[in-house]
Amino acid sequence: MSDDQKTSLRSQDWFGKGGKDGMIYRSWMKNQGYPSHQFKGKPVIGICNTWSETTPCNGHFREIAQFVKNGVYEAGGFPLEFPVMSLGETIIRPTAMLYRNLAAMTVEESIRGNPFDAVVLLTGCDKTTPSLVMGAASVDLPTIVVPGGPMLNGRFQGGIIGSGTHVWRFADDLRTGKMTAEEFDEAESCMSRSAGHCSTMGTASTMAVMTEALGLTLPGISAIPAVDSRKKMLAHMSGIRAVEMVKENLTISKVLTPGAFENAIKINAAVGGSTNLILHLLAIAKRVGVDLSLDDFDKFGSSIPLLVNLMPSGKYLMEDFYYAGGLPVVIREIADKLRNDAISVNTKTIVENSKNARNWNEEVITPASKPLIEEGGITVVKGNLCPDGAVIKVSAASEHLLKHKGKAVVFETIEDYHARVDDPDLDIDENSVMVLKNCGPKGYPGMPEVGNMAMPKKVIDKGVTDMVRISDGRMSGTAYGTCFLHVSPESAVGGPFALIQNGDIIETDVRAKKIHLHVSDEELAERRKAWVPLDLGYNRGYTKMYIETVNQASEGADLDFLIGHSGSEVKRESH
Ligand code: FES
Repeated sequence: MSDDQKTSLRSQDWFGKGGKDGMIYRSWMKNQGYPSHQFKGKPVIGICNTWSETTPCNGHFREIAQFVKNGVYEAGGFPLEFPVMSLGETIIRPTAMLYRNLAAMTVEESIRGNPFDAVVLLTGCDKTTPSLVMGAASVDLPTIVVPGGPMLNGRFQGGIIGSGTHVWRFADDLRTGKMTAEEFDEAESCMSRSAGHCSTMGTASTMAVMTEALGLTLPGISAIPAVDSRKKMLAHMSGIRAVEMVKENLTISKVLTPGAFENAIKINAAVGGSTNLILHLLAIAKRVGVDLSLDDFDKFGSSIPLLVNLMPSGKYLMEDFYYAGGLPVVIREIADKLRNDAISVNTKTIVENSKNARNWNEEVITPASKPLIEEGGITVVKGNLCPDGAVIKVSAASEHLLKHKGKAVVFETIEDYHARVDDPDLDIDENSVMVLKNCGPKGYPGMPEVGNMAMPKKVIDKGVTDMVRISDGRMSGTAYGTCFLHVSPESAVGGPFALIQNGDIIETDVRAKKIHLHVSDEELAERRKAWVPLDLGYNRGYTKMYIETVNQASEGADLDFLIGHSGSEVKRESH
């Protein structure tokens, strides 16, 4: 210990050492051109980068990282950029959600194992946000998030088109002959016309809003388009702030308090955010030991008015949201419903940060006195079909279907659905209830976004635009419809959902928060005796471990051994 130069900085346990160990920790780093003074007591800021050419939504992150570095250097810190597993929602198979927890493990261990005093998380495409926040939360260093920003508005045939949302519309139009194959091809290029993540209030935008609502970002950053110069400025400012947070020892657990989670749920309801928020927020809460349950989403969110008129629930896109004033306007509008005791990364509460926000377009962000929907949040329903709950995004559903009774048309797997949905002989009409099984965390595996399964062509041809759909899978944040999702327990573990048969009557009543399968307990018990789980054939690797250890959707679908946190201490040297 004699020649160690220990200071209060964690990084000095590496770079401040003398002798052989210190030489090893510094010398190899110097091959990148860092001069000696960089290692002498400067806060080391890790920049956790999810750049990847297979994650197109994060394709601009090397440039964003450079602006963070500029800020870190300006504030007297030492920035070190590092990669983690990146998940491209539109590319990776079988579903990015399968790998969210694996990515979180790479984040957690990369942060803990390296000489960082704080981290800046570069987040964008759907799962790249929760995986980074979950991993960072389990280490508990000062942490600030820089959301990468949405794409510019898609433009096609004189109007705006939104990522994902218009894919579902155009796909139906192509199937029913309302759109030509040439138009469909052209729309493909028109929809994704700049760097950035999905332009709708889909999962990526929901996650960006979530980080700002939790207080993990500088104010106002979440809606700034990826290519707007102000994104770079705030990336620079975030680098400066990360260095200051080291000095203040403002760790992520001091920001992720119960009040912050309550605010995130309420704000998600006000912006019409994705149901995917539930899984990710539950998982993040469990990493920091905050007691959050599925029922809290209903308790805090279901009575919050919808104020933001963005697709898929509304008309506009994230670019418009930014020009209207972005999230600070929403926070100011519902400030009286928010907790004002949760500090953000700039040490003020999000309510304090937003008090001077101005609304520049009341078509895009309505005043709280004139909401788009009085109660627009996510509703949790329960019943004998899903004793541990299912969720529905009311703002994306059809009012006339919120109370409904219909005959189940059951698809045992997604392959079964694809094979039969357009069969002219399928006994289905607009009053039927479409049931899709084996799409939960264990059953797919990975809980894909198939819960908004397209309706049968013969029903669409009648001009019908929505039907009741129920599944243990998820729904893309860009999608819409009267879709009950995240049924828990899922069918793959033999929950009651697994026992539904064609022709069973299912009754839903969203306002009463109920969903009921009209089959007696005795009959269900008989069916359970005959139930056989699907053999998925996964017997090695990460997927095997995932199936064996993943929790149900109602618990956040994290791996059971990742819940909680291990801190930042690493007791042993590497040599
Ligand atoms: Fe990446 Fe939507 S596909 S954000």
